Amino acid sequence: MDRKFDIIALGELNVDLILNRIQGFPEIGKEIVADDFLMTLGSSTAIFAANAASLGSSVAFLGMVGNDGFGNYIEESLRKRRVDTSLLIRSERYNTGVTVVMNYDQDRANVTYPGAMNFMGLDEISGDAIGQAKHVHISSLFLQENLRRDIPGILELIRKCGATVSLDTQWDPSEKWDFDFRKLLPMINVFMPNEKELMCLTRCSDLDAAIAAVSDYVDIMVVKRGSRGATLVLKGGERHDMPALLNEHVVDAIGAGDSFNAGFVSAYVRGYPINECLSDGILAGAINTTAAGGTGAFSSPESIRVAARTFGKEIKI
Ligand SMILES: Nc1ncnc2c1ncn2[C@@H]1O[C@H](COP(=O)(O)OP(=O)(O)O)[C@@H](O)[C@H]1O
Ligand SMILES: [Mg+2]
Repeated sequence: MDRKFDIIALGELNVDLILNRIQGFPEIGKEIVADDFLMTLGSSTAIFAANAASLGSSVAFLGMVGNDGFGNYIEESLRKRRVDTSLLIRSERYNTGVTVVMNYDQDRANVTYPGAMNFMGLDEISGDAIGQAKHVHISSLFLQENLRRDIPGILELIRKCGATVSLDTQWDPSEKWDFDFRKLLPMINVFMPNEKELMCLTRCSDLDAAIAAVSDYVDIMVVKRGSRGATLVLKGGERHDMPALLNEHVVDAIGAGDSFNAGFVSAYVRGYPINECLSDGILAGAINTTAAGGTGAFSSPESIRVAARTFGKEIKI
């Protein structure tokens, strides 16, 4: 299939404003000081897009930001990671989403203004845009009101455009888990929840029951299981568990699920056998843990190769 992009990453974009070394806790009517501050490109879909591009896929981002300085920053950050920004939508009406992260040792308090990303629905997504890619990856469904509302129509549009689609719902902050999996999973080629999310989505209290609940509806599912690796489930219930590649010096696992998705989907769009897609996902998740944050370990093809070798693997980029 001759298309301009391997992958369109569809979904949320925001800026993270990270406050470190804060002297005390915020109180109404008072002011406190943070001794360190950092601004980064936030959002799980952006980590996915950046890392899939670093792994050699041609990736475009379809998301909505404001016509403002934070929107410019996001566009520039994506470009630096070789993600195409020609499909970005600039809203005149809404500002770019922001998360203020207040870090306290291992804990953090976050405040998010979802902004423009909340208002991207089917009306904003054109068939002309979708038709430019072989595959569409959607993440963080519950963080995006209009995307969630319109998801059946969006999946239908992707199918009509002849692209394949993967979905990682991520966590539902409202914990309502309003997702009709019997209707939606048959419209998805690869479903990519973690085990806790799968149990919540299916309202099952153990993983085996949760897998059994969806296995008639989905062609391919990968269930991410942290340091225990991942489980591949094929339609009808055939199941393959693959252990994680463990790392003695884990820096953090922030974004490991998004990196796993980037590794898996990059192999999937190249038509690799499904077990190789799984092992590429496992390797990308492990590489993620060797440096800080979701994209730190994926800054260049060389750094990815070096990290892969620490797990005794050669990676195809
Ligand atoms: N500590 C770890 N060591 C090695 N691999 C890990 C570790 N944590 C996560 N991974 C890899 O990353 C994948 C995704 O991480 P996980 O935390 O399960 O996803 P999510 O962030 O979506 O919850 C796992 O399936 C595993 O392969
Ligand atoms: Mg996840």
